[in-house]
Amino acid sequence: MTKRVTTRTLQKMRDRNEKITMVTAYDATFARLFDEAGVDSMLVGDSMGNVIQGHQSTIPVTLEHIIYHTSCVTRGAKRAHIVADMPFMSYGASIEQAIQNAGRLMKEGGAHAVKFEGGKHFAELVYRMTTIGIPVMGHLGFTPQSVHSFGGHFVQGRGDAAQKLIDDAKILQDAGAYAIVFELIPADVAKRATEALTIPTIGIGAGPNTSGQVLVCNDFLGMDEQFTPKFLKKYANLSQTIREATSTYIEEVKQGAFPTEKHSFE
Ligand code: KIV
Repeated sequence: MTKRVTTRTLQKMRDRNEKITMVTAYDATFARLFDEAGVDSMLVGDSMGNVIQGHQSTIPVTLEHIIYHTSCVTRGAKRAHIVADMPFMSYGASIEQAIQNAGRLMKEGGAHAVKFEGGKHFAELVYRMTTIGIPVMGHLGFTPQSVHSFGGHFVQGRGDAAQKLIDDAKILQDAGAYAIVFELIPADVAKRATEALTIPTIGIGAGPNTSGQVLVCNDFLGMDEQFTPKFLKKYANLSQTIREATSTYIEEVKQGAFPTEKHSFE
């Protein structure tokens, strides 16, 4: 039987300086492929608002959406550690409601942990969740659910904000978080924060000195030619592959070249 990557595995990887890999996943087929490739962890991210649902932000994503996609991903992945994102307004209104919602992500979705955005303000929530067996991954820096408060997509943690970010990270760690995502922050701040912590840090647009990296799968697989932020490296050009395969299929059907005898039943 395949050995599951757990919060303990991730901590051990961080302790021996072995980089942690994480990608987002939203369905069972992609989850199976990422698992077969050997990724350590998958995030059922609320980035599904952008890349699956076609919204301009993550804000419209609901708890039901994340539960549904988490259950798809957990059926596809046998080895990776699966983290479910808590969507906007599923954890900000009250601690009790947040705990109930995180419980649903684990019980109905099959997630191994939850992630939510924010620092010091959420210390008590992190403590309450972790003491009842809900592993929490933090998320600091550019936190997409606050895009309207930030007034756009900007690098965070510059200047005086750097120390506050590091303090927030320590507070989350002390409250019980087992890992923290740093999104869109200067590389030297991510390095300082990683050195100041004992838990793993996972970067996206945070430079090379975090314990691991995460990318949105549609982005690193090159499924949107218009999306070209500085932090992104595209490892495939699936837009082109998908368009070419589809137009070949259309052409062959139109011309009667598919299906042939080989694809037909007697
Ligand atoms: O929702 C998401 O995909 C995320 C990653 C960008 C970290 O939160």
